[in-house]
Amino acid sequence: MAGAGRKSFAAAAAAIVLLGIGTPAGSRAADRFNSIADVIPAPAQVLPGRGVFALRTGTKVSIPRDPQAARIGRYFAALLLQTRGTALEVVERTGANPPAGAIVFALVSHRAKPDAGDVRSGPEGYRLDVLPQRVVVSAGDRRGLFYGAVTLWQLCTASAPVHGSITLPALHIVDAPRFRWRGLMLDSARHFQSPAFIMRYIDWMALHKLNVLGWHLTDDQGWRLEIGKYPRLTSVGAWRVPAGRAAARDIDPATARPRLYGGFYTQDDVRRIVAHAQARNVTIVPEIDMPGHATAAIVAYPQLGATNEPPQAVPADWGIYPNLFNVEESTFAFLEDVLAEVMGLFPGEYIHVGGDEAVKDQWKASARVQARMRELGVANEEALQGYFTHRMGEYLRAHDRRLVGWDEILEGGVPADATVMSWRGVQGAIAAAAAGHDAVLSPDPTLYLDSRQGRSPSEPPGRGTVETLADVYHFDPLPGPLAADGRHVLGLQANLWTEHVRTEERAAYMTWPRAAALAEIGWSPPARLDWPDFLARLPAEFRRLSGLGVHYSDDALAPPHTVGPHERHMSQDLKTCTDKLVLSLEDDAPMEGARAVFLIDIMNPCWILPAADLSHGSTLTAAVGQVPFNFQIGKDIEAIKLNAPNTPAGELEVRLDGCQGEPVAVLPLAPAADNDAVTTLPAVPLPGAAGPHDLCFRFTQRTLDPLWALDWVQLLP
Ligand code: ACM
Repeated sequence: MAGAGRKSFAAAAAAIVLLGIGTPAGSRAADRFNSIADVIPAPAQVLPGRGVFALRTGTKVSIPRDPQAARIGRYFAALLLQTRGTALEVVERTGANPPAGAIVFALVSHRAKPDAGDVRSGPEGYRLDVLPQRVVVSAGDRRGLFYGAVTLWQLCTASAPVHGSITLPALHIVDAPRFRWRGLMLDSARHFQSPAFIMRYIDWMALHKLNVLGWHLTDDQGWRLEIGKYPRLTSVGAWRVPAGRAAARDIDPATARPRLYGGFYTQDDVRRIVAHAQARNVTIVPEIDMPGHATAAIVAYPQLGATNEPPQAVPADWGIYPNLFNVEESTFAFLEDVLAEVMGLFPGEYIHVGGDEAVKDQWKASARVQARMRELGVANEEALQGYFTHRMGEYLRAHDRRLVGWDEILEGGVPADATVMSWRGVQGAIAAAAAGHDAVLSPDPTLYLDSRQGRSPSEPPGRGTVETLADVYHFDPLPGPLAADGRHVLGLQANLWTEHVRTEERAAYMTWPRAAALAEIGWSPPARLDWPDFLARLPAEFRRLSGLGVHYSDDALAPPHTVGPHERHMSQDLKTCTDKLVLSLEDDAPMEGARAVFLIDIMNPCWILPAADLSHGSTLTAAVGQVPFNFQIGKDIEAIKLNAPNTPAGELEVRLDGCQGEPVAVLPLAPAADNDAVTTLPAVPLPGAAGPHDLCFRFTQRTLDPLWALDWVQLLP
């Protein structure tokens, strides 16, 4: 390639195409290729060139007349300035030949017949050639050109910043995605994130070639989208009193009532966010959940509900509420009005109508719903949800949109053109594809970003399950029968539910770098997937995330977390006695400032410190807190066994080698009873016992709410 730069720009581009970079075979090639280009997701094809391109302050970025392509060149220059401090000079191309030493952005027309072997075919494909004389980013579509710019930016930020120039080794990349749906879902209903954060989240996605943002805008605990025709959805439905004693005591002087938590996106906010997403090649798929997860809407407009005792306030429990929309014509009219405004705001093809976890108790109990079922000729409540989904599907289809639903929509019958989002494992995708539906894989727990990504006590709250970066990386996007026929698999999506993700910083942390692993398995060809190689590219990824100001997890590269025998064992260092419903829960207090995080099985709050050395006797100290029991778990609540206390405030009981029998130590909870935050209990002696022994920690208490939680224990000689 050394001579190519002496020719004209057009001739050079043609020469590069003629080189016909082939697909290298074998994993050895994959190792080598990925390490040439420190890029995530790994490009489909990379070949080394000869020499280097030196990029320095004032290097020209040559942009074409085409305004969209020009915007991408300017975006690249702005990004490099922001993240590396290198100021480039953006110049509009006038003649055929760009200036020497420039970075050239070019939209090229596909005059040649698309070649099946040319991975650039498809609107997201691009080509990047780094030559000593120039850099050329070319694509047939603005989407591909954008991704070429992203790859170039990653190459420019792969190494630690040094003063002066950025040295790029010469190379040639030909790249295009494996899947067309590479998504993240952000739940803005359970906790609200600011419009500025949503736009930053979109930026970070785009810089990893993720292209779909599923935006969960409505749920039981909040309705977050302004709907002009129904103002109470947000004036009422967007606000709740948080769970717990501390929030109940947090009186707002303006109202003399507990301070409300909430927020919503105005239609102007949404228009700005959508425009921002379009510029970043991200399509937003808004989700309006129905017929379940509808409590906030029903509180705002009780006539939408299916019970004579509709909920009075937007609730703060997590889990599955029984509240469903009813099936009156007026309710369908309401939902169509809402979807009309949604379609007016979101130009993408897909609209998500939820459909998950709609327990049918209220429909079964309602004489009016039962009468409607007979009127509609619908046999049972499952089929009624099918009727519901069909009506929404027809409405969306009449407006040239397509319905997406969670995999439950398969159960009651589903419109032929519906896309199924498989979350209860991958079975929904397999069933959907077998029935001829498109599917997106977003299985719980592997692609559920609210799972913890490590076991360290410094992990923010979330689900107790640990889904590491490696777990996400090793997820197979074409499982089972889909390996043989993956036609209907549109792609992948990782979901960030935010019940336990209260802050924007934590939302970023739960997402990164796991979303980078998702990006790679969604974009890169299977032959390029290589975990050790991905790990080798992680330091550069972390530098880039730092440069972008992303609060990310470094757990994948952190030394293992260990605790000495006489150090504090945080609840995360202990074993839960059972794994029924383990959560990493944040204390509800203090209202301002840092709160403790407890790992707790809410169905059986009980912890084990394994193999404690008690041979010389010990002094035990423990710190405890209380968390609100704000979980809608239906009849499962009856399975929770409480141990009766011996004193009014209850006790923390410690047992040896199992959780039955007489306690070896009892710590009264009276000192902690009135403290909303964490209390260190007075130390107690533990009798000596030869050899290692498991210590079991369990509370006694009369009621579930609040629930006692262990923060840490410490044994001192
Ligand atoms: C879901 O997690 N309920 C889709």
